[in-house]
Amino acid sequence: MINDFKPTVSAVSSAVEKVDADALVLGVAKGPEGPVLLPNPLADKAARSVADSLKALGASGAADQLLRLPGVDGFKSETLVLIGVGQLTGEADGGVSLEALRRAAGSAARQLSSASSIALALPAATIEQVSAIAEGAAIGAYSFPHFKGSEEARSQTPASEIAVLTELKDKHTKAAVTRAGVVGQAVRAVRDLVNTPPSHLYPESFAETVAKAAKSTKAKLKVWDDKDLAKDGFGGLLGVGGGSSRGPRLVRVEHSPSRPAAHIALVGKGITFDSGGLSLKPANAMTTMKLDMAGAATVVAVVLAAAELNLPVKVTGWLCLAENMPSSTAQRPEDVITIYGGKTVEVLNTDAEGRLVLADGIVAASEEQPDAIVDVATLTGAQMIALGSRTVGVMGSEGVRDSLVEAADVSGESLWGMPIPEEALTGFRSDVADLTNTGAREGGMLNAAAFLREFVGDRADADPKALDPETKRIPWAHVDIAGPSFNDKGAYGYTPKGGTGVTVRTLITYLEGLTKA
Ligand code: BES
Ligand code: MN
Ligand code: ZN
Repeated sequence: MINDFKPTVSAVSSAVEKVDADALVLGVAKGPEGPVLLPNPLADKAARSVADSLKALGASGAADQLLRLPGVDGFKSETLVLIGVGQLTGEADGGVSLEALRRAAGSAARQLSSASSIALALPAATIEQVSAIAEGAAIGAYSFPHFKGSEEARSQTPASEIAVLTELKDKHTKAAVTRAGVVGQAVRAVRDLVNTPPSHLYPESFAETVAKAAKSTKAKLKVWDDKDLAKDGFGGLLGVGGGSSRGPRLVRVEHSPSRPAAHIALVGKGITFDSGGLSLKPANAMTTMKLDMAGAATVVAVVLAAAELNLPVKVTGWLCLAENMPSSTAQRPEDVITIYGGKTVEVLNTDAEGRLVLADGIVAASEEQPDAIVDVATLTGAQMIALGSRTVGVMGSEGVRDSLVEAADVSGESLWGMPIPEEALTGFRSDVADLTNTGAREGGMLNAAAFLREFVGDRADADPKALDPETKRIPWAHVDIAGPSFNDKGAYGYTPKGGTGVTVRTLITYLEGLTKA
């Protein structure tokens, strides 16, 4: 979206000797008795000579270990590269899981930044394996040099031509590789948006970027500016965005195929910078807070990917965009704001802002009576305390929550279903408004979900006499990506430093699953 860099990914079935790439990549796994060269298309003799030299080369098979060897005689590729895939797991798929393949392909694409073309000769006997390798490479080939000063640094891009060697050449394999390319582009778009500094990405420029990206697709777009938001009563966005000279926006982006199998609404938290507002964050907690729009970035990337893939599901994305800043026009602790639709909230902590903008978006999404609502947000620090920096928390209606966890398992992402305990809402009791915006500290991620649930609308066809509110509500899930959205440690597998694009794959897989049901 920001980045014009688009690697091409293709399946190639020609003889390995004839493949003309800067680097030919083979996999090495950690076996019970040392390194093991994974099944590959090399001729027996060449394969044996590589396998025999693994120990001498220091190849361990550990994930992310990359070794370069001079090219083999009779091969067109200049260098031979060994990439570690980690421990053999002894599964039926030849001992390497799909996620291990995805990571190995991604790690090679990420680390081979000086090669302009790479060919991946990893185990690719099934369509699932080809798909995993293509996807891993497409998301591993990523860099973000746009804000470097020198021309030279800016021109450093990863491999732009990625070939997956496989004997499969049917149309399903081709389609799987095309899909991997679209998924890769969506993941990279989220990373670009997350990595873009808040000096350059703010609600208005975010909305403009989305409009530009949507232009080349069939997706439809509507943008509310500050005046529109005031006219329609979006008190959450106006309250949170009120402290900034750069006003809030609400963006609705829609993929609407004819005769859709279902309608899913996706709502994204898009705080382009979270200073905390008047409840100011300490300095060290404020760095990385450009990541606070990762949910909105994920939502738009998924809607546009659904359009690109022509998924027979209607998807409406709601991007709740605001900059949370302190100033004399900022909302104050103890202010009462009116969320879209009429519920009032006493703002006790202006740093609990994500739930306020999401509340507006969830109510607006509910009005259209979708079959389910999924919100995606970097919502709570408590997410990291509960699940760490790589596992996403998902809460809400059992059906949607569990479908998302299943989709994550298929796509190789780590999502964990969490409960919304019955006492989770009690901390939000207000003396003056319907709710406050801060619950108990314990179980902070779960409490935030309970708050959001209050804004999910009822199904129009619900039995008005039903006693259990759960049976009346539109099915909904809340996805907290606070930690996993940003990698501030070292790169690994297909995951770079900075924005990760986590949950894009899960959400696309979830939408695809609805078309099969
Ligand atoms: N954007 C933060 C959550 C966050 C923290 C995301 C760290 C990624 C990394 C959110 O707006 C926030 O400030 N949440 C507060 C809520 C509290 C004031 C109730 C938190 O989690 O501390
Ligand atoms: Mn905050
Ligand atoms: Zn925030």
